[in-house]
Amino acid sequence: MTVEHCANGNEIQRAAAFLDAGQLLAFPTETVYGLGADAQNPSAIARVYALKGRPATHPLIVHLGFNADPAYWIHGAMPRAARVLIDAFWPGPLTLILPRAAHIPAAVSGGQPSIGLRCPAHPLAQALLNAFHHLGKIKGTPQRGIAAPSANRFGRVSPTAAQHVRDEFGDAVPVLDGGACAVGIESTIVDLSRGFPAVLRPGCICAAQIAEALGEMPRNESEAKDGAPRVSGMLRAHYAPRTPLFLRTQEEITRALDEARQHGERIAVLGRGNFAERLMQRAAQYSRVHIVMASSTPTAYARGLYQLLRQLDTLGCARILVEILPEAPAWTALNDRLSRAAVLEHVSVRLPLARARRQYGDRCRRSRSPSRSDGGDPAASSYGEREATQGKPLKHALVSAVSWTTD
Ligand code: TXA
Ligand code: MG
Repeated sequence: MTVEHCANGNEIQRAAAFLDAGQLLAFPTETVYGLGADAQNPSAIARVYALKGRPATHPLIVHLGFNADPAYWIHGAMPRAARVLIDAFWPGPLTLILPRAAHIPAAVSGGQPSIGLRCPAHPLAQALLNAFHHLGKIKGTPQRGIAAPSANRFGRVSPTAAQHVRDEFGDAVPVLDGGACAVGIESTIVDLSRGFPAVLRPGCICAAQIAEALGEMPRNESEAKDGAPRVSGMLRAHYAPRTPLFLRTQEEITRALDEARQHGERIAVLGRGNFAERLMQRAAQYSRVHIVMASSTPTAYARGLYQLLRQLDTLGCARILVEILPEAPAWTALNDRLSRAAVLEHVSVRLPLARARRQYGDRCRRSRSPSRSDGGDPAASSYGEREATQGKPLKHALVSAVSWTTD
C-alpha cells in the first residue's frame, strides 16, 4: 500500500485496519518516518525488532493521538513535570520517558520498567492514530497507541521521506506518504522516570525551552548517567551512512580536497553557506569531488540533513567530509547526530599509520588494540582486525566491525 500525500479517509481506515491486524506500517511524523505497530500487540512488536534488526532490549516510543490519555500507559500518578511538558509541547517533537503501567506489554519497552510516549504533530500521523483508536474502541480496547522506531535499519540514517523508507525496506512494509518531514531529526527525549528531568537525546525542542517550561534546568546525558534507561540512539556510533563520515574544519576540508585531487580519490563534502559556495566555484579543479551545500540555519540544516546524507551515500565516494558545526546551543542536536554518524572516529584498528592516513585522513592515530573505545562487541572488533590485516579493503572491515554496535 502506498498512499500518496493523502488525507483520504478510506486510505487512513485501511492503514488503521492493517495495524489492527497486527501488521507493520510506515507513517510520517514531523520529525522522521516511523515503522509502526500496535503498541499492545507483542507479536507485532517482535516484527518491528526483526525487520529493523534492532536488539530486543532497546525500547520503542509509543505514539499517541491528541485525544489519547497518556495516564493509561504509565504506572502511578502522572508527574507534575510531565503534565507541564505535555501542555507546553504536545503535539510535537518531544518524547517523555515515564514509569510503564503493568498492563502494557514489556516488549514495547525492551523489558525496561519505563515507557516512551510522544504525541506527533503530523496531521497524517494524527489521522492514523485517531482511526486506530476508534477501531480499538469497537473491540473494547480503551486506549491505543502506535509503537514506532524510526523506519530505518538499526544504526542507519533515519528516513525523512516515504521514498527513504522504500529504499530501506522495499515492499516489506507499506508506507503512508506524508511528504518530507518538517523537522528532519528525531524528537527530544526527556526522562522523567527517575525523580528529576534529564535530556537523553537532544532534539529541536532544546534544553532551555524545557527549563523554561519546568522552571528547572534538565540534566544532560552525562550528568544523568547513573541508572539511565538504555537509549539506542545514544550509542556512540549511530545515524550513520554507509560511506565513512568525518567531521572536519574548513581548513582540513580544503587540504583534503587538494590531497584527493593528487590521489584521484572520490570524496564528498557537506559544507554550509559561503564555504560550500566557495568550494563549488572551484569545483572544476576537483573532478572527482562532490560538494553539497547545507543550510546555514540549524532548523533548515536539520530539515535537509538526512536527505543529503542519503544522497551523498549513493555516490560511491571513499568518504564524506562534513564541515564542523558551531558549538552554539541551537546546534546541539545536530552536533549530537553528526558525531554519532561519524562512526569511524570511534573505531581504532591496527594497520600501518601511513595507509590509514592515506585512506582516512590525518585524524588516524596509531593504536594498540583494534577494539572500540566504548566497548563494542568483541567478536566484531576482532573481525575488523582480521579483515584489516588480511589486506581486504579497510572500509568494509570497519563498516562490518562497527555495524554490530550501531538504531
Ligand atoms: O522522532 C522520533 O522520536 C522518531 C519518530 C518516528 O517518532 N522515533 C524514533 O524512534 O526516533 P527510535 O526508536 O529510532 O528512537 C527512539 C529512542 C531510542 O533511542 C530508544 O532507546 C529511546 O528512544 N526510548 C524509547 N523508549 C524508551 C524508554 N522507555 N526508556 C529509554 N529510552 C527509550
Ligand atoms: Mg532510530
